[in-house]
Amino acid sequence: MTRKLRILSTISVFSLLACGGKEEEEASAPLRIPTYHEDVAPILAEHCASCHVEGGVAPFPLVEYEDAQRTAEAIRISTASRSMPPFVLDNSGECNTYVEGRWLSDAQIETLAAWARAGAPEGTAPRGGPPAPKALANLDRVDMTIDMEDAYTPDAAAFDDYRCFVLDPGLEEDVFVTGFHVRPGAAEMLHHLTLYAIDTKESEAAAKARDAAEPGLGYSCIDDIHVPDARWIVGAGPGSGALRFPEGTGLRMRAGRKTLLQIHYNQENGRRADRTRIDLMLARSVPNEAAVRRIAATNLFLPPKQPRVEGSASQPVPVDVTLWGLWPHMHKLGRQMHVSASRAGEEKCLARVNDWDFHWQGFAHYTKPISLSWGDEMRITCTYDTLSRDTATTWGQGTNDEMCIAFFYMTEN
Ligand code: HEC
Repeated sequence: MTRKLRILSTISVFSLLACGGKEEEEASAPLRIPTYHEDVAPILAEHCASCHVEGGVAPFPLVEYEDAQRTAEAIRISTASRSMPPFVLDNSGECNTYVEGRWLSDAQIETLAAWARAGAPEGTAPRGGPPAPKALANLDRVDMTIDMEDAYTPDAAAFDDYRCFVLDPGLEEDVFVTGFHVRPGAAEMLHHLTLYAIDTKESEAAAKARDAAEPGLGYSCIDDIHVPDARWIVGAGPGSGALRFPEGTGLRMRAGRKTLLQIHYNQENGRRADRTRIDLMLARSVPNEAAVRRIAATNLFLPPKQPRVEGSASQPVPVDVTLWGLWPHMHKLGRQMHVSASRAGEEKCLARVNDWDFHWQGFAHYTKPISLSWGDEMRITCTYDTLSRDTATTWGQGTNDEMCIAFFYMTEN
């Protein structure tokens, strides 16, 4: 009996020691060295493999051990800086979170770093085989497909080719887009695209005239789409799955009107013919018609050779609204963005971008929508790095001009 007790007390002393040790170690480094199969593969499958797969938008796969082992150091660096997985909005929870926000926790980043520092050990493969890569979201159904009608091969002389295509969805009555899924023809070239609804005959005529004036399919539209009444309905960056607009909301497409598809092709990973399709989910009516409205600082004047210059603007909210999500937009000098709403000295954070990347444009929905009231003051502030410029940079459509915009998907309350 005495002996048994002694053993028990010895065990508990040991386990206490072990606990104490564990806590101390957790604060500095993980307790054991992470291995590929146990710790790393599940993270890569969930957060990376949807793009880093053969034929995906990323230039190399992250599916097998050898893929990860070869790139371990690059994985460590790109995740520590949060340039991978690519997502420009801050999804940490300090300023909202987003549905399908691509984001690693600090603990996951630390696991990848500890694994890389330890020389990328493999560990033992699990019996059930490797974890399945996370499937991207799909639409419930496809009601219409916007198709480019023919294939387009980007201009060999333009590294970044922006092309606009005037397309007829053949609508006999007004409909509401409730979700979309972009299916790129050449995923590795497609940087981002925007589909606009053209609302008036005059704008349609302007778009058609541009199209007719240039040989080949569509027209070049790097500086401007050149169509006045064009309303955003679809926007997607590379590697995104389907997006469903919030329940009960949708964006109107008018009977008889055409659409304008703007695609930004980048030829870094080669050049070939592309025929991209956009699947749409539609409703005849929605309880809450949504609109995309922007807040923008259009008064930008950015002197050259500055590590940090700011532009900002504010405007009052004209009616009670619910904000469901946003698309932040700057050009190549943009570094950070902050959007807020305030009333009587109290500030709500609407969105934050910590490290802007022009190449990752995209729309994201809030996990929890935000209500704003008439008279709330919205404010947008963008910061830029102009060290690379010799002359002042101002607001403009060209990629070497600058912008500072947050496009919000909203409904009136
Ligand atoms: C939405 C698609 C997508 C996802 C998800 C993604 N990547 Fe990438 N990754 C890319 C593309 C595209 C590139 C090519 C360079 C670029 O365009 O930034 C790239 C490049 C890289 C590079 C090369 C160096 C660099 O930073 O450009 C590394 C390393 C990398 N990714 C690691 C990861 C890891 C690790 C994850 C998951 C934690 C991940 N990526 C998730 C698309 C993606």
